[in-house]
Amino acid sequence: MYIINFKAYPESTGKKAVLLAKACERVSIELKKTIVVAVQATDIATVAKAVSIPVFSQHIDQYGAGAHTGYVSANAIIAAGAKGTLLNHSERRLSKKELKASVLEARATGLKVVICAKNTREGVKLSKKYEPNYIAVEPPELIGGDVSVSTATPDLISKSAQKIHSAVLVGAGIKNHDDVRIAHKLGAQGILVASSIVKAKDPYNTLKEMLSNLS
Ligand code: G3P
Repeated sequence: MYIINFKAYPESTGKKAVLLAKACERVSIELKKTIVVAVQATDIATVAKAVSIPVFSQHIDQYGAGAHTGYVSANAIIAAGAKGTLLNHSERRLSKKELKASVLEARATGLKVVICAKNTREGVKLSKKYEPNYIAVEPPELIGGDVSVSTATPDLISKSAQKIHSAVLVGAGIKNHDDVRIAHKLGAQGILVASSIVKAKDPYNTLKEMLSNLS
């Protein structure tokens, strides 16, 4: 699975979120690969209406339906068309209590859950505790940078793939086909990527080239 995290970049917000999601959908159909777009909560409804690929939220809060003001609930993102959510991303870390309650909400409502971890150790712990659909390991210091997790910390990928019981995704600084190929070779089942696609001059071609000819 390949998750394109739209974050809160201007290039992936509002109408541009829809255009970018359509480019991701095109690549998904042409390459027959599962590509998920993780968009801001405010863009879920329009993006989900526009594309057939899975739309995830970048986060949900710990509260379900009811008297809660200003939170993003699992029910609300499902009503908007989301199929899953990221949780505990490095840019949106949760306390233990928040993470537990959010995972319970996600599970109770049938959302797919991707829990992010900053290293293998945390990934092992969170995988055991919550058994999510995926653990996404991303070294925070490489996020948004020029050096990819595949180049800088290949050991982290292989260790994560060996030790974490859930399916493992990796991310941070992923830029090109080689980064993805190496991640797979070391045992990752997919990647999370943001800036190199969102900020690309031509996101369709950049993503297509990144995911083409992977065995
Ligand atoms: O969620 C993916 C992300 O944190 C990695 O960001 O910009 O390094 O691909 P980037």
